Amino acid sequence: MTLLTPIRGDLSDQKADLILHFQYEGEAAPTTVADAKLRTTVSKVLKLDGFEGKADSAVLWHANGDHPASRYLVMGLGKKDEFSPEVLHRACAVAGSRAVGIKARRAGIALAPGRWRLGPSEAARIAAGGFLHGSYRFDKYLSSAQEGAQPQELFLGVGRMDPRKLQTVLQEVKTVDTVVRLARDLVSEHPGYLHPMKMAEIARAEAKKARVKCRLIREAELKRLGMGGMLGVARGSEHPAVLIHLHYAPRSHSRKKQRVVLVGKGVTFDTGGISLKQADGMEAMKADMSGAAAVLAILLALPALKVPVEVHGLLLMVENMPDGRAIRPGDILRIYNGKTVEIKSTDAEGRLILADGLSWACKTLRPDALIDLATLTGACMVALGPGCTGVMGNDERLVKRVLDAAAEAGERMWQLPLFPEYREHIRSDVADVKNSGIRYGGAITAGLFLREFVDPGVPWVHLDIAGPAYFENSYTYAPKGATGHGVRTLLGLIRSLG
Ligand code: BES
Ligand code: MN
Ligand code: ZN
Repeated sequence: MTLLTPIRGDLSDQKADLILHFQYEGEAAPTTVADAKLRTTVSKVLKLDGFEGKADSAVLWHANGDHPASRYLVMGLGKKDEFSPEVLHRACAVAGSRAVGIKARRAGIALAPGRWRLGPSEAARIAAGGFLHGSYRFDKYLSSAQEGAQPQELFLGVGRMDPRKLQTVLQEVKTVDTVVRLARDLVSEHPGYLHPMKMAEIARAEAKKARVKCRLIREAELKRLGMGGMLGVARGSEHPAVLIHLHYAPRSHSRKKQRVVLVGKGVTFDTGGISLKQADGMEAMKADMSGAAAVLAILLALPALKVPVEVHGLLLMVENMPDGRAIRPGDILRIYNGKTVEIKSTDAEGRLILADGLSWACKTLRPDALIDLATLTGACMVALGPGCTGVMGNDERLVKRVLDAAAEAGERMWQLPLFPEYREHIRSDVADVKNSGIRYGGAITAGLFLREFVDPGVPWVHLDIAGPAYFENSYTYAPKGATGHGVRTLLGLIRSLG
């Protein structure tokens, strides 16, 4: 666990293995360096390296004993008027990753809230949060895993302000980082280990520690309730389906609280079922429970953040396998709310379990806001690329709030329309709806399918996180693997409702 220590000044006289500074495109020197001598030397080095301050560019300089810190890393922030929290988050995440790469024990970030047009707490939240995000590694199964590869301490240079003013926000950064790490660990876990009941055991243990209520709805009860989607998808697997219901209620009961319900797709492995996926790349389908992992992470953070909003989390856990007992294309399932679904593809399984989860949430929890997170469609990645979540919903105000929260958290989300005429694509001749349409607009028809299972009047937003939940390749700005995408956005959103 990296210690976060705010200190006065710009870190010019701080001993460390790595100190981070920033520069906008077009500037001659990193303006976060106040010390004149250091600034002159660093700008010479930057010039020699042809550094221009472009976004996602960086120069690492070894100070060779001439300065208090052994290395300085200058990150480009790109054009000043294109700056956003996401740019800063990314720069600091890259720095966090570099810090692990060079085994830096003590690192520092010189904060410049004024230059970023952010409040001091916001600047600290994004910068420290980004650094910790980038320093994450999943090395549980590596025989060569290095004890203590994580930085021990991160200093935050706060300029002239009183460092104690950042204590609260830095505590929050740690809380959020801890739960995001848990989500990333769960997504990274191999699917032979993390089956639905394993997830339930972990959720129950973690919920107990965090003082969040946890109830398991097992197969027998799913049958009594009529959750045909959950049971149908799980039929080909030797692991039974389980619905994990988490509940956080704030301590004070002074006034009417908002009630938020989060629903997460928890397919621990998606082979496609009888509509089997191609073998190439199938291993990435261990990440098909990223939505559920994010919902668990969010619920676990709420008590520590003392959020004054009631939140329920529904984790819909199943495994999608081909088998003699598995559902087939042509089968008809009945969802919790009584609607029937013709199976066109057993690989469109996420929407079947979400249909049960969403309709059960509407009926029993009466949410003021209902939000689902799901690695739902490859089509969403085709539409928006790998780094962006598709946002759809039946309530423009809630959609807007989610998009605003995403921008503040530095996570990329973009709205897609729910064109009513595309409903035709999922019309069935034998059931109320079918579970897949034509290839074109696949993210949208998936959203329209889900809408069939949300009671009118319940504000609902669907987040298709198929792209950003898990990176099969690394990008300049994102390491390979699980990201915990959605956790920071939704924690921000929920806090803004309180
Ligand atoms: N889990 C997949 C979607 C997915 C694909 C997530 C790639 C992350 C990366 C989902 O269950 C699925 O298979 N969707 C199908 C839907 C189709 C059959 C209508 C898809 O996108 O191909
Ligand atoms: Mn699938
Ligand atoms: Zn899936």
